Amino acid sequence: MSKQLILALSKGRILKETLPLLADAGIEPIEDLDKSRKLLFDTNLEDVKLVVIRAVDVPTYVQLGAADLGIAGKDVLLEHGAEGLYEPLDLEIARCRLMTAGIVGARPAHARRRVATKFVNVARRYYAEQGIQAEVIKLYGAMELAPLMNLADEIVDIVDTGNTLRANGMEPRELIEDVSTRLVVNKAAMTMKHERLKPLIERLRDAVATRRADIAAS
Ligand code: ATP
Ligand code: PRP
Repeated sequence: MSKQLILALSKGRILKETLPLLADAGIEPIEDLDKSRKLLFDTNLEDVKLVVIRAVDVPTYVQLGAADLGIAGKDVLLEHGAEGLYEPLDLEIARCRLMTAGIVGARPAHARRRVATKFVNVARRYYAEQGIQAEVIKLYGAMELAPLMNLADEIVDIVDTGNTLRANGMEPRELIEDVSTRLVVNKAAMTMKHERLKPLIERLRDAVATRRADIAAS
């Protein structure tokens, strides 16, 4: 069993919001992540290391035990599935919504609705629950383009300000899930390394609670 605890961080947008939260919790990489091409970092805590990977890979690392803990968006976790993962804490950062969206005023052109998304599992589940026949088309980005190019009737994507939809003549339709960033823990590690994991989870829980209290007081 590894002596150190490995915490997997999602690169990109989530990382920017995660680092200040980790600092509030007293967990800091010993070098500047932005200035390094490294992927594995020591921290000020002797027994905690960080890996910085693509957001979609975080659940895989944690599920298979290569990392003990991970930080990932609820959207990514819903798409990946929860097998082998505990989700003990909502970090309350990178809030957004998973929604359906389409061209303003447009009706679906196909009897079997065509839906473009990178969240294919979420989309299949959602349309099935609604009793809507859907053909789900996997894309890797720029989902908003798909209805404009007549590739799809609708998209399932992240919406925050709504600016991306508006800029492309589209409108948000149904809310699928409110999204924020979550802490996940490998289920086996939670049992085997409980004594070491618990204080780390509590540090993060306290940092989130302090932030929440500060926001409420401001
Ligand atoms: P990659 O660059 O690896 O393909 P990505 O483009 O999905 O990943 P980001 O855009 O950095 O990566 O977003 C990662 C996560 O941030 C998403 O899974 C979601 O939880 C959250 N997120 C994405 N878009 C927004 C947004 N507009 N506002 C707030 N949070 C967002
Ligand atoms: C995300 C998402 C939407 C956009 C929504 O894209 O895929 O396109 O943010 O945010 P808004 O409602 O505030 O406009 P991102 O900027 O992460 O780019 P991506 O396509 O590379 O994921």
